[in-house]
Amino acid sequence: MVLSASDKTNVKGIFAKIGGQADDYGAETLARMFVTYPQTKTYFPHFDVSAGSAQVKAHGKKVAGALIEAVNHIDDIAGALSKLSDLHAHKLRVDPVNFKLLGQCFLVVVAIHQAAALTPEVHASLDKFLCAVGNVLTAKYR
Ligand code: HEM
Repeated sequence: MVLSASDKTNVKGIFAKIGGQADDYGAETLARMFVTYPQTKTYFPHFDVSAGSAQVKAHGKKVAGALIEAVNHIDDIAGALSKLSDLHAHKLRVDPVNFKLLGQCFLVVVAIHQAAALTPEVHASLDKFLCAVGNVLTAKYR
């Protein structure tokens, strides 16, 4: 997934608008994913997966932090998320299909809260970025 210069600008721009709300978006994304795609809950048997739970909030913050890390290193997402890639591919062994589901839910959350900023072009760029992150996190399966 190659991000063009305008994709990178669009992604940085939408994350700048999201700003300090990123942690909340992360938690909302997870809560939405667990309800919309219940099969994703199988990876979190140790979590209270209900919306607004302390674990969903804490994990949403971690996921948002990783996305911001990727935005901040948008020319080297693989390097920036290398440890996270090891974790998801070697230890957690999350089926790659689930990354698309999480990405879809994040896009919906952004659409709800940033409707005006999520033009079709920004939508396309954000989708490509989320695919790129998913590809990195599922690149090391063996
Ligand atoms: C853990 C990010 C997708 C399942 C984590 C952590 C981060 C993270 C930052 C914490 C790592 C640590 O504590 O060192 C992401 C990002 C994703 C993504 C950025 C995609 C954009 C997924 C998906 C699933 C998943 C799709 C499964 C449906 C897990 C699980 C943990 C974890 C089970 C461990 C949770 C715990 O026990 O605390 N992820 N993740 N992740 N992730 Fe992901």
